[in-house]
Formats: sequence, structure tokens, C-alpha cells
Amino acid sequence: MLILGIESSCDETAAAVIDREGQVRSDVVHSQITVHGPYGGVVPELAARNHVKNIIPVVDQALRTAGTKVEELEAIAVTVQPGLAGALIVGAQFARTLAWSRHKPLIGVDHLVGHLLAIFLRPSPAPPPPFPFLGLLVSGGHTALYRVEGPLASQIYELGATRDDAAGEAFDKAAKLLGLGYPGGPEVDRRAAHGNPRAHEIPLPMMEGQEFSFSGVKSWLARHVARSGIPDEAGLDDLCASFQRAVVEVLARKLVRTARAEGLRHLVVCGGVAANQGLRRRTAELAARHGLVLHVPPPSRCTDNGAMIAYAGLQRFLAGETDPLSISTSTRTSLPRVTRKGRGSR
Ligand code: KG4
Ligand code: ZN
Repeated sequence: MLILGIESSCDETAAAVIDREGQVRSDVVHSQITVHGPYGGVVPELAARNHVKNIIPVVDQALRTAGTKVEELEAIAVTVQPGLAGALIVGAQFARTLAWSRHKPLIGVDHLVGHLLAIFLRPSPAPPPPFPFLGLLVSGGHTALYRVEGPLASQIYELGATRDDAAGEAFDKAAKLLGLGYPGGPEVDRRAAHGNPRAHEIPLPMMEGQEFSFSGVKSWLARHVARSGIPDEAGLDDLCASFQRAVVEVLARKLVRTARAEGLRHLVVCGGVAANQGLRRRTAELAARHGLVLHVPPPSRCTDNGAMIAYAGLQRFLAGETDPLSISTSTRTSLPRVTRKGRGSR
């Protein structure tokens, strides 16, 4: 049984084919970095137009690499939420058309569920986590902690999210302030590896509770640059290392604290920022110190891809869930938030 997964929620046009065991047969990602780079951020209208241009070649290549044809697919999964409205519509409309014309079941996927389940894709050097686990999703659009009791959206509960910027957004804005390229996360990460994280004592943002806030660290950096200007190479490395330390420290500490409060032993860190070397190292250190088991996907499965969407779609399909061709897209997630009184409603 083969499932096709299609992803177009932001600035990556992606498609992948996986089998029933979650083995990845193909995984094609077309990045629009060169399109958005000159603007220093994703331009929604350009993203949608580029998805239109790339979606057929990307899906075609995913099928060819997997050595399969549409006729042989069991179902078609596609990201329907959350994301940029115009970008989502391109993938969803393409998937609808394919499903209708080839008589295939259609499965809508919440992008965040895809990120949280990317850890189950095979092959992988490490065994997958058992349910329930605590998920920390850190990407360009989202930063939140989830209690994941099973692979369906109805089994995943948000425990706390960022009140302002997502962690990846904070990295990208920091890089922009420092005159580094877009997206800035990987560049800050590279520079941080050579810098001194104690060169600047940046106050750790919002250490209490399960919510996050990154606007304070960003303002600290903006004030620093306004006062002292952009430093030389070595100074830049130190600033990147100090900034990264502040962001990573709060993410890692809250992850471990929430795991203990929720009584969860297995931790999954996912989303684009999970590719960050500093975050990978610090969460591993703290998890080991507290007897917790940390699972992090390889970097290529942390950033947006079609395989994670195919996997989340496969889980819905196995549970007997498919969607009508009339399924709509939404800029918001379907995942409920846990309230003090109990589990929140959708
Ligand atoms: O998950 P993703 O590909 O797209 C969203 O759904 O947002 O995440 C992209 C984000 C960007 O903000 C990018 O700067 C950040 O992930 N990112 C990183 C690293 N690699 C990607 N941030 C810090 N360090 C990295 N190595
Ligand atoms: Zn994403």
C-alpha cells in the first residue's frame, strides 16, 4: 500500500511516497528560498504562484523516484491546515483533482500533526517513541508543547504555545537584524558554533509556565545593534551564540519541566528549528540528566516535507478516516488546547 503526501502550506512545494510501514520511497522538496530571499521573508502571493508552477513536476518526480504511478496509490494525503491561505489552496486543489480524476481516497492533514509524527518515518537510526509522548514543535510559524496520546489530531493536545513570535521567526528576525541571509536560522546556528554563548548575558525570556515569548530577546538584540552597530566577524559569532543560547535554554528547560509535570518520559522535538545543533545538544543533555528519552528526527525531516504529511494521512486512513472532495483549507490548526478545566474543544 502506497500513500502520496503533498505539502504546500508555506514556502516549500513537497511531495513524497511512503508505504504502510512508514518507509519513505521518495521525498521531493522544492524550496522557494531564492524567490523569497531578496524580501527577507516569505511573500504569500509569490509562494502561491510558485506552488502553482512547481506542484506538477514535484509530484511527478516523487512518483517516478518511488517507481510507482497514480493508479497504484492507495490514497492521497494533503496539508489542509494551518498555513498561508493561497499556498494551501494550491496543494489542496491539486490533490482534490487527482483524487477525483483517478478515483482515489482523499485525506486532509494538519501540518502540525505531520511535524509531530515525522519521527515515525523509516528508515531511521533510532526506534520510534511509544505513545503518549511530549512533543515540542518549533518551526518558523509555530512554537508549542503537545501531549501526543496517539497519531490522530483528536489525540493531540496543545499544552502551551508562544504568545508572540515562533522560535524560527525569532531566529529569522535576529539574522535579518544582523544583516545575515534568509532564512536566518541555519546561518545563526552555523555562526553560533564558533561563538561564545556567554559573551552577552541576554535575559532568558518567560521562564515560568508552559507558554513562550520571544519578542523580548528580539528587542534585546535590536537595542544592542542600535547602540553598538553590527560587529565584526568574531563579534557576530558571539552575538549569534548568545542569542541562540537564550532561545535554546528556554525551549529545553520548559520541555523537561513540562515532561515531569505531565508524567511523560518520551520527548520528541520537531519542526524546522529542531535542526538547530544547539537545541539538539542542550535538550539531549537535560533529558539524560532527568532520565528522559529524547527523540529528534534527522534534520531533513525536521523542515517541511511531504513524507510527514503522507505518514499523518496514512494514520487517518488506517483509522478509516477519509475526506470528501469538498474538504476546505484553513489558516488555523485543528489541534485543541488544554484548558485548566480539562481538555479544550475544537
Ligand atoms: O518547519 P519549517 O521548515 O517551516 C515551518 O513550518 O515554519 O521551519 C522553518 C524555520 C525557519 O524559521 C528556519 O529559520 C528555521 O526553521 N530553521 C532553523 C534551523 N534550520 C531551520 N532555526 C535554527 N537553526 C537551524 N539549524
Ligand atoms: Zn512546518
